[in-house]
Amino acid sequence: MSQPRILVARAIFPDIVDRLREHFDVEANPDDVIWTPAELAARLADKDGVLTTGSQRIDAALLAAAPRLKICANMAVGYNNFDVDAMTAAGVQGTNTPDVLTETTADFGFALLMATARRMTESEHYLRAGKWTKWSYDMFAGSDIHGSTLGIIGMGRIGQGIAKRGAHGFGMKVVYHNRSRLSAELEAECKASYVSKEELLRTADHVMLVVPYTAASHHTIGASELALMKPTATLINIARGGIVDDAALALALRERRIAAAGLDVFEGEPNVHPDLLTVPNVVLTPHIASATVPTRRAMANLAADNLIVFFGGQGALTPVNKPASARV
Ligand code: GLV
Repeated sequence: MSQPRILVARAIFPDIVDRLREHFDVEANPDDVIWTPAELAARLADKDGVLTTGSQRIDAALLAAAPRLKICANMAVGYNNFDVDAMTAAGVQGTNTPDVLTETTADFGFALLMATARRMTESEHYLRAGKWTKWSYDMFAGSDIHGSTLGIIGMGRIGQGIAKRGAHGFGMKVVYHNRSRLSAELEAECKASYVSKEELLRTADHVMLVVPYTAASHHTIGASELALMKPTATLINIARGGIVDDAALALALRERRIAAAGLDVFEGEPNVHPDLLTVPNVVLTPHIASATVPTRRAMANLAADNLIVFFGGQGALTPVNKPASARV
């Protein structure tokens, strides 16, 4: 019997591609070419499965052009690049990579918060530009992390990891807002109190966004939410581009209506709103919150295992949907 045909849509660790070759007929993309949707569709025309990253859109048009496709294994916990309803209707399994990146991503959220509140990149640019000729009492004075109030919007696994770091490591008061309230046990573990979004925005010294991107979470933070925040507050987005209205944020930063922001994700990335590039009080990183070698390997391995287990007939390890009838 011939092996299932798999497309690995972006470059990933070569040894993990080799592992896939032990089970499948694999077309890989070692040069990491960014295919257009039409090029991706052409490559998927004869494939049974695909390993995607967040940068390939899987929608009804693509599924129609890929009649043999049975599974899309995303190497990311977020899967807003999937039209899940279209995949379910077409009988296509989707999978993601939860858990393996939780702690690494929570570490990064905290790193970005620290860098932002303590003005680390802004001050480094100043030093590198040779502008540091004397010390002064208020040079790059930022805001405190310890003892401050951390407001987390989106209290899933990563939000909880950030809450624990803040509460237990830095003595922060942690408030959160989420679609549903955590159990009393989890709230106690995270030392976090549930509040409305408005109260969180009004009272937090640091606001951290960790919600999945959906139509409902589009522009969770826009001009009116920014207006509720303290003028001394910082805003951190490690969730997805589109959760924040980047144009409104750039304006609020320029007018110092909030103190600073740290952004790892952007609307329309890898493009970045030009106004964000010209305001000094923002720390910008290129979507690297889960980027440590062990975690990126664990994500790639989990995506590969989803393909292997699925074609072995045991279902998917970390499914994001439940197609009623699978494609054959
Ligand atoms: C990264 O953004 C992910 O969703 O894993």
